Amino acid sequence: MRVFLTGATGFIGTFLVPELINAGHQVVGLSRSDAGAEVLARAGAEVFRGDVNDRDRLRTAAEAADGIIHAAFNHDFSNLRQNSEDDRKVIETLGEVLAGSDRPLVISSGTGLARSKTGAPVIETDDHVTAAEFPRAATEEAADALIAKGGRVMVMRLSQVHDTRHQGRITHHVRLARQQGRVAYVGEGRNRLPAVHVSDAVRLYRLVLEKGQAGARYNAVGEDGVALRDIAEVIGAGLKMPVESITPEAAQDYFGGLANLVTIDLAASSALTRQRLGWNPTGPDLLTDLRNMDY
Ligand SMILES: NC(=O)c1ccc[n+]([C@@H]2O[C@H](COP(=O)([O-])OP(=O)(O)OC[C@H]3O[C@@H](n4cnc5c(N)ncnc54)[C@H](OP(=O)(O)O)[C@@H]3O)[C@@H](O)[C@H]2O)c1
Repeated sequence: MRVFLTGATGFIGTFLVPELINAGHQVVGLSRSDAGAEVLARAGAEVFRGDVNDRDRLRTAAEAADGIIHAAFNHDFSNLRQNSEDDRKVIETLGEVLAGSDRPLVISSGTGLARSKTGAPVIETDDHVTAAEFPRAATEEAADALIAKGGRVMVMRLSQVHDTRHQGRITHHVRLARQQGRVAYVGEGRNRLPAVHVSDAVRLYRLVLEKGQAGARYNAVGEDGVALRDIAEVIGAGLKMPVESITPEAAQDYFGGLANLVTIDLAASSALTRQRLGWNPTGPDLLTDLRNMDY
């Protein structure tokens, strides 16, 4: 398949390019920089230069593709609402190009946007929060709109994707600990974060592209939930810093913009995803990667 990949130069994209090429696909990777273009070309991808928010460029690339994986996102959280609304427009544009065809579109989202119906870990069929509640859900709403029109659209709900260099939100925890000379978790720290190794996440992207069911959500979850206290202990050992429980009231001071996230349980399951696609995560777990990180 000739696959147009947005976000090809990002953390996940960098692993997804070889995953797709090794499986026999042709990859056309979007890049907005010379440096990104060079990396993509070296990895064996065709480079399509452009910004994801340039509708005409996006349409041109999408029209020439047999399938699309959309993994670009601007993670400047100080502009989360605008960036999320931009993402809605990107998805609308890709959907317009693919309308009426059976060419697949795989959209990137997060398990944290799903709302558990039962209080148990979120599952693939759980609804998502609204963009009014949390701006990033604009992506899920845009996917809903295309699915309602009959598009072959699948949503990847990613948990915390990690290797020994990148751990998304956890990277911020490490930065905060460095700034404050101690590693904190809230209360008993039993609330959990789901996680998946990047090698497993990209294998799932490929399986979803190749055989995902139109309209389905898939949870990229290797571990249902890793307790924040366990994460703090490993970071503390790595940084050689004390590890402390703090109260929910003190969380704002320590965690700033992350304060809400560190007090809730975000556990997620991938049982349906494994069953439907035969996906079996085998990569290292989050704590192993954190232990092997170069602090
Ligand atoms: N990593 C995780 O743990 C995680 C968890 C949940 C959901 N997700 C979602 O998975 C997707 C991929 O995540 P990631 O970790 O790979 O993100 P990332 O490392 O931040 O990469 C973002 C990618 O988007 C590209 N991009 C951003 N703005 C762009 C623009 N205006 N035009 C063209 N390209 C643009 C970046 O290009 P440049 O290289 O030019 O900057 C980069 O390739 C995102 O939707 C993310 O929200 C990730």
